[in-house]
Amino acid sequence: MFDIEFPIIGGTMMHLARAEYTAAVSDAGGLGVLASANYKEMDEFRETLRKIKDKTEKPYAVNLNFFPALNQIDNNLYLDVMIDEGVRVVETSGHKAPEEMVARIKDAGMKWMHKCVGVRYARKAESLGADAVTVVGYENGGATGTLDITTLCLIPRVVDSVSIPVIGGGGVGDGRGLAAVLALGAEAVIVGTRLLLAEETPLHPAIQKKLTESSELDTRLVLRSIGNTHRVLDNETAQQVAKLEADGAGLDKLLPLISGMIVKEKFAEASDGGLLACGQGIGLGEEIKPMRDIIQNLVAEAHQTTARINQLMPSPD
Ligand SMILES: Cc1cc2nc3c(=O)[nH]c(=O)nc-3n(C[C@H](O)[C@H](O)[C@H](O)COP(=O)(O)O)c2cc1C
Repeated sequence: MFDIEFPIIGGTMMHLARAEYTAAVSDAGGLGVLASANYKEMDEFRETLRKIKDKTEKPYAVNLNFFPALNQIDNNLYLDVMIDEGVRVVETSGHKAPEEMVARIKDAGMKWMHKCVGVRYARKAESLGADAVTVVGYENGGATGTLDITTLCLIPRVVDSVSIPVIGGGGVGDGRGLAAVLALGAEAVIVGTRLLLAEETPLHPAIQKKLTESSELDTRLVLRSIGNTHRVLDNETAQQVAKLEADGAGLDKLLPLISGMIVKEKFAEASDGGLLACGQGIGLGEEIKPMRDIIQNLVAEAHQTTARINQLMPSPD
């Protein structure tokens, strides 16, 4: 459907999924997903799409964000530019599938995947005409929704509930996870947290190093009190947010801490990197590597995993 070599989607990431990251995932044989919400000016957005095309001829996708945001731009403006620039795959994510935009996406001949966290949302996306649905379990980095269903249970439930292809993820940090997600019935996997450790991801090296030393115990859920639960790295900023929430703080008090993650160029402004979405799979990522190596390792390990399973469990006849 997407004309990609490996069944691996490089999860979109606010602040980080820019041209270099997106092109690196696609060029390595996966599908990179640019975060359109990084761009407030349409000229800059258009320039970014062109930069990706300069870096790779392989297909890539663009995410349209339908989570409530303070300075939400009309997603139709992004779509105008995407149609002009020949983008072939659009991913939408948010609390509800964007019913009002489906006709435009379809008329433009784009493939549409919608990312969500539960069976009923997946069914809704299918009923609206989604070509594929992405579901991520509760261990994932970023938005977790409110249902708290783990990857192991969510993927097969969704696979059994819809007839379109399912992309599954949440907690996939190596090839064992890739093989597992495919074994659960998904057609492809989505990976975010593991790719925080790619050389092409524009995180400051000091934060990347800290991530290599982090384990599955080092994430926490924040922002549930304002209906926008996110799994993030359990750093000082996250602890401050959690404390404010426990004390009943409203959005006005939380905002200064949650409004921006500190990426490479701004690292000096916050020693811990600010609020950084991060999944439990961080315990599986030990090394910072080029994107191509990460993706090839995922595939090679998945093959080793299936070989191991076949050996452990010969066919009964
Ligand atoms: C730093 C970071 C930022 C993210 N930002 C977004 C975002 O803006 N929109 C979105 O739909 N998903 C976002 N995600 C979620 C990923 O696209 C992907 O669904 C998720 O990371 C997969 O689970 P995993 O982290 O366990 O691999 C983000 C994830 C991370 C780690």
